[in-house]
Amino acid sequence: MGEPRKKPNAPLLKVLHGQKQTKPPVWLMRQAGRYLPEYRALRQKKAGFLNLVEDSEAAAEVTLQPVRRFGFDAAILFSDILVIPYALGQNLTFVKGEGPKLTPPLVNHTLKTLERAPQHLKAIYATVRRVADVLAPETTFLGFCGSPWTVATYMVAGEGSRDQAVTREMAYRDPQAFSEIIDAIIDSSVDYLNGQIEAGVDAVQLFDSWAGPLSPQQFERWVIAPTAKLISRLREKQPHIPIIGFPKGAGSRIKAYVCDTQVNAIGLDETVDPLWAHQYLPSDLPIQGNLDPLALLVGGDALDQAIKTILDAFSERPHIFNLGHGILPQTPLNHVSRLLEILRA
Ligand code: CP3
Repeated sequence: MGEPRKKPNAPLLKVLHGQKQTKPPVWLMRQAGRYLPEYRALRQKKAGFLNLVEDSEAAAEVTLQPVRRFGFDAAILFSDILVIPYALGQNLTFVKGEGPKLTPPLVNHTLKTLERAPQHLKAIYATVRRVADVLAPETTFLGFCGSPWTVATYMVAGEGSRDQAVTREMAYRDPQAFSEIIDAIIDSSVDYLNGQIEAGVDAVQLFDSWAGPLSPQQFERWVIAPTAKLISRLREKQPHIPIIGFPKGAGSRIKAYVCDTQVNAIGLDETVDPLWAHQYLPSDLPIQGNLDPLALLVGGDALDQAIKTILDAFSERPHIFNLGHGILPQTPLNHVSRLLEILRA
């Protein structure tokens, strides 16, 4: 991809442009969140999670907290993948102990009954501007959204689920209605990412947390094709933005995902063998990952060993160090410090 156009000294952005760094830059998925006491303190003052997301001053502060404490190479915008269903007109609540709820669920309501509410996204662009204004030139600012498939699983079922059966069933039973939902998510995600980029993020990640349980044909149709469409539409508006794909649980289908979606970099979950990935993925493709969040939680020798395995496997290619999934809320802070100490030694 050539040189980064802005922030020429940001190591993580350089890796996204294909330039291997001697020490891999690092950030952690869900790095702004409940494992941080300063997050919990601020969160307590707000009525709900959405109030925090919609309060740009507080959301900017939360975005910066992990960077300030640990000096990560990237800040990730504090928001959520479910703001897209919210903007498409579903009601969104986060029920303590139960996770997010979206109403009405699209398994038995059509999109047409919803009243669009794109105004909900304005506060998020304001958060981006605030963070971009103060972020150091060596720190990469990441925007994000959910992938169409993963966002659709929440919109259809109205909540999270272990195997996404309700949504997979709908995709077989009524592919026409389901593709209308996917297309609506693509449209608003392109606008949303474009808005984040115009407001100042340097790169974006597509979170496909539930890409795993689909059959091969359905994976092709509902993960790869919509992601490819989203990316080509975004690149019409933003030809230079680096895009990280994270198809969690995709296993060996990662090869097809990389090739057919044209992502600039691939995030691996912790189940992917780094040696396999290094051998079978294009040698110039930046790889992000893939420490087991449980190894970080446990610490000690298990952590040191797990870090070494990943560093050894990716020593010859552009690599961004990350977890294979979000950091667990019970993770001790000194284990994160230990990780950074090893990476920067
Ligand atoms: O630090 C960051 O990574 C940036 C912020 C971020 C959040 N969610 C904040 C959040 C990001 C990138 C996400 C992505 C997200 N949200 C995903 C994809 C990644 C993944 O983990 O698979 C998904 C599936 C969601 C949906 C979501 N949001 C769920 C299922 C929940 C409830 C479960 C939980 O972890 O509490 C959320 C809430 C949420 N999003 C919290 C945070 C910090 C916790 C809310 C709180 O503090 O009360």
